[in-house]
Amino acid sequence: MTAPFERPQARANKTLIEKYRPSLIGQGSENFIYEAKGHPDVVIKVSKIRLAKSIHAARNQTPEENQEALNNALLSSRKEYQLLRSVFRDHVLKQKQFIVETPYYPSMIKDMETQASAYGLDLPRDGHGRATTIVTVQERSQIFDDKNRVSFDGGLLELQLAKRNTIDIPEERWKEYAAVTNSLMNGEQAKDSTVSQEALEKLFAGMGLAALLKKSIEDESFKRVVTEFQKKAVEHAKVSGTIMDIIGKDNIVFIKKEDGNWDYKLADAIFPLESNVLEKAKEIISRVRPGQKLPHNERLIVRWAVGHVRQINALGKMLGTDAYIDLSEDKIPGTEITIAELVTARNEKSKVQETSNATGPVKKPGSLFRRVNGK
Ligand SMILES: Nc1ncnc2c1ncn2[C@@H]1O[C@H](COP(=O)(O)OP(=O)(O)OP(=O)(O)O)[C@@H](O)[C@H]1O
Ligand SMILES: [Mg+2]
Repeated sequence: MTAPFERPQARANKTLIEKYRPSLIGQGSENFIYEAKGHPDVVIKVSKIRLAKSIHAARNQTPEENQEALNNALLSSRKEYQLLRSVFRDHVLKQKQFIVETPYYPSMIKDMETQASAYGLDLPRDGHGRATTIVTVQERSQIFDDKNRVSFDGGLLELQLAKRNTIDIPEERWKEYAAVTNSLMNGEQAKDSTVSQEALEKLFAGMGLAALLKKSIEDESFKRVVTEFQKKAVEHAKVSGTIMDIIGKDNIVFIKKEDGNWDYKLADAIFPLESNVLEKAKEIISRVRPGQKLPHNERLIVRWAVGHVRQINALGKMLGTDAYIDLSEDKIPGTEITIAELVTARNEKSKVQETSNATGPVKKPGSLFRRVNGK
């Protein structure tokens, strides 16, 4: 049981700005990062998507609507953090979240363009002012200065393979991609899967998973902490119904301690774009029917879920943890559609081709997997 969640304060906390006097020191793709005068032990983070939503809301909603949306977002964000802490304990950097009136400038508006266009938000060009938003005060950590750190840095396999901003997997990579994806979507199948370390290292070449797998073979202590992390990731998926942000760089970081043993820290592991990703993906998958086109936002949710499960289950298989996340059958029940096809919209393309030039049936997952593994 986790402790009851604190009620968020009803109004923006104006004194925090006076107390911390934050100055912007950098940014990632998701957050603005500040340091606070006289408080060298913390960093302050402002989520770009949250700030962009607040600026939009100030122009398009009543203050009461905005306040309610912020209170709800704060509650759910604190809940996600508490779930993460309840599973990973001290591996999660300590943090507190508040609703604060936050200054923004034209350069910050420019840095939020991606978020604004993705969510159809109306931000004033050259705008500046203060927006009420959620601010995270997090313990400052030295892990980012450690040159020998290993970041999970999971990436998005579909985009990596396609090499462009599409989900078209090149034909010559399709079989291995589909075989690995389809065989790792649940524990039963993952146990029986004949996917090899070599196949995974090849498919994930240049990505974090390949590096973790390779280092786990070379270093027993490293393998121990990745094993612990993987088991806890499975537990977290079960209790939260969502994924972690294993995609970005330095969100989950493995570091070598002074005694020579490895440890790991979760610095920014809460997935920022959607809540309950695993639960939502299961629900979407359960209602897929042949010939149906998946809306873009639903395909994104399924892709995030599949990407997460594929990596955590691949680690489980290679490290022999016997702990797996159950997302789906390899083939969606009542259809001939495999998860790999759904994620890449290949089932929709096959459908079009089938009716237009009769290119034959959609490939079956089992046969794909056997062919790749020479069985
Ligand atoms: N607790 C911390 N202590 C010290 N530095 C930090 C801390 N958190 C973040 N940073 C610095 O800020 C950078 C970005 O942090 P964070 O991951 O929170 O933002 P992000 O927008 O999600 O970035 P990315 O897109 O790279 O994941 C980190 O790579 C690190 O250099
Ligand atoms: Mg990050």
